[in-house]
Amino acid sequence: MPKLAIRGGKPVRDRPYPKWPIFDERELEALKEVLYSGLWGIGGSKKPEFEKKFAEYQHAKYGVAVTNGTAALMIALKACGVGCGDEVIIPPYTFMATATAVLDVNAIPVFVDIEPDTYNIDPKKVEEAITDKTKAIIPVHIGGRPADMDALTRIADKYGLSIIEDACQAWGSEWRGQRVGAIGALGAFSFQSSKNITSGEGGIIVTNDEELYQKAWSLHNCGRKLKGEWYMHYLPGGNFRMTEFQAAILLVQLSRYDEYLKRRMENAAYLDAKLSKIDGLRPMRRDERVTRCSYHLYIMRYDPEAFGGLPKNKLAEAMRAEGIPLSPGYSRPLYREPYLSYYAKCPLSCPYYGKKVDYSKLKLPVTERACYVEGVWLPQYVLLGSKDDMDDIVAAFEKIKDNINELT
Ligand SMILES: Cc1ncc(COP(=O)(O)O)c(C=O)c1O
Repeated sequence: MPKLAIRGGKPVRDRPYPKWPIFDERELEALKEVLYSGLWGIGGSKKPEFEKKFAEYQHAKYGVAVTNGTAALMIALKACGVGCGDEVIIPPYTFMATATAVLDVNAIPVFVDIEPDTYNIDPKKVEEAITDKTKAIIPVHIGGRPADMDALTRIADKYGLSIIEDACQAWGSEWRGQRVGAIGALGAFSFQSSKNITSGEGGIIVTNDEELYQKAWSLHNCGRKLKGEWYMHYLPGGNFRMTEFQAAILLVQLSRYDEYLKRRMENAAYLDAKLSKIDGLRPMRRDERVTRCSYHLYIMRYDPEAFGGLPKNKLAEAMRAEGIPLSPGYSRPLYREPYLSYYAKCPLSCPYYGKKVDYSKLKLPVTERACYVEGVWLPQYVLLGSKDDMDDIVAAFEKIKDNINELT
């Protein structure tokens, strides 16, 4: 009789992990309030209230609530003056929007490898990638774990670059006690449906700089000026405004966020301790400068050699059959994605840029290993479970390891 569920055995668990999104009557009431107010977009009070509260929550002075995280990144880039002929340094282990935001403002993404034990951009390699065309760096706080903002800030200051934080997975995460987002010039957050705070779709830009705030505000609102004439458009903006319904939901979501963040952090620490005892699994490095982490993803490094050579996607399939929603995560570096051919003429061979970009020969070894071999993750809602729920994860890994002969 096979033991592993993928071969017909009994799964470790048949109960689901907490269902996401979590909501209650308060979201319903908030939505009703907006519905009956008749102010569903411009003129309502929820969006400004959320902008103020979320910016404060991230230790920032200003917030501009937008349609999604992708728009937040593009607006942040434009607000910093990034455009044709500019290079922007980014990591390739991230969601595609980090790269397309750069390309869609006609700038060139310059991919820099990640650290092997955090999967965040490696500051030691950033400096080597700087040229006279570099304008900005986008560190992505991957899974919610802040990138090394000390080292990156030093580099940005030395070369006069803007830092735009891709904090789309990092609500409430802290680097040495300071919440991410406005450590650099501007930060972008996402509230898409898988995210730890969600309104289905949505995003926000935060900053401490009043001028950048005014530009970001204008860019998200058709190029208008704050308190300016309605049909006067100063910047090449568009309509990227968040609706009142989204803001109303997000205000409620934010009010219960700290409780959930604490639970995710406790369960992540528990898993770190338990999983690091299994040969072939390594949690990410703990760094005391990371004082809070959102754990949008619980990322770990898997060594197939310790599991009879089982590839990570097969491990994920076997874990899912056991009732654990393990994901193989990003499975190719962003510089290997087909979307890049769309940009082959502009901006990648733009005469204005003066160079021709060819990513086909690029090979960043840490990213390639993370994508093709070792990076696997659990989604955030799993970390909202009980200690028993965490023990099931450990039990499933052990069970697969003990019965690896059924898979290899
Ligand atoms: C790291 C990162 N950047 C950018 C985005 C884009 O956010 P959105 O989907 O809200 O446009 C996401 C969303 O998945 C993300 O995870």
